Amino acid sequence: MKIGIIGAMDIEVAELIESMENIKKEEISGITYCQGTLNGKDVVVAKCGIGKVHAAVCAQTMILKFSPDAILNTGVAGSLNAELGIGDLVVSSRVVQHDFDTSGIGDPVGLISGLNLIEIPCPEKLVEKVADSARELENTKVFTGTIASGDQFICSMEKKNYIVENFNALCAEMEGAAIGHVCYLNKVDFCIVRAISDKADGSAHMDFPSFVQIAAKKSINLINNFLKTVS
Ligand code: ADE
Repeated sequence: MKIGIIGAMDIEVAELIESMENIKKEEISGITYCQGTLNGKDVVVAKCGIGKVHAAVCAQTMILKFSPDAILNTGVAGSLNAELGIGDLVVSSRVVQHDFDTSGIGDPVGLISGLNLIEIPCPEKLVEKVADSARELENTKVFTGTIASGDQFICSMEKKNYIVENFNALCAEMEGAAIGHVCYLNKVDFCIVRAISDKADGSAHMDFPSFVQIAAKKSINLINNFLKTVS
């Protein structure tokens, strides 16, 4: 079993790459793919860059070149739920693209043209395994549900409310649903793991730089726990 791991920013994957053994690096389209072992398990790890296009390029290339059995996306997110505080974890059971909007021609908001879906589901078995690994972490709430992605840093109540009202999502980030979209097209299992770095409201621009490191580390800890369970 080979696990693909994608993070958008250095801080979200650097520690994983530093802990890898037998590492081989290959750069394709500006993204470096690191193949090797982590906790004794076969992995390919990449920093994709921020946003849905970077994430999609990375996931598609990873699938074609390195054939992972499943892809996990690790990183941070803005909370859309009052129960989810800084450092808490969200494990995706489905992903949505909150900025996909063809409602002007009569479609529901968020409908992904071509797929004819609003929500892209994650495989239940994988979600349960990842959520179990998350529950091993101390002093951390773990929620499972919808993660919303879009090419926007969410930092206003207006935008936050729009995403909650339309998609009932637990957190907002900028890559997960693009990775989910690519995995869905390629029939590859995927799950998105995010630790909360801010509340996606008017304080997000202050909280994000203060808490991004703590949150990124929490998500990495979850990934390490998960890898221990992989056969
Ligand atoms: N990643 C972390 N916080 C975020 C936010 N508020 N919006 C989008 N992506 C994020």
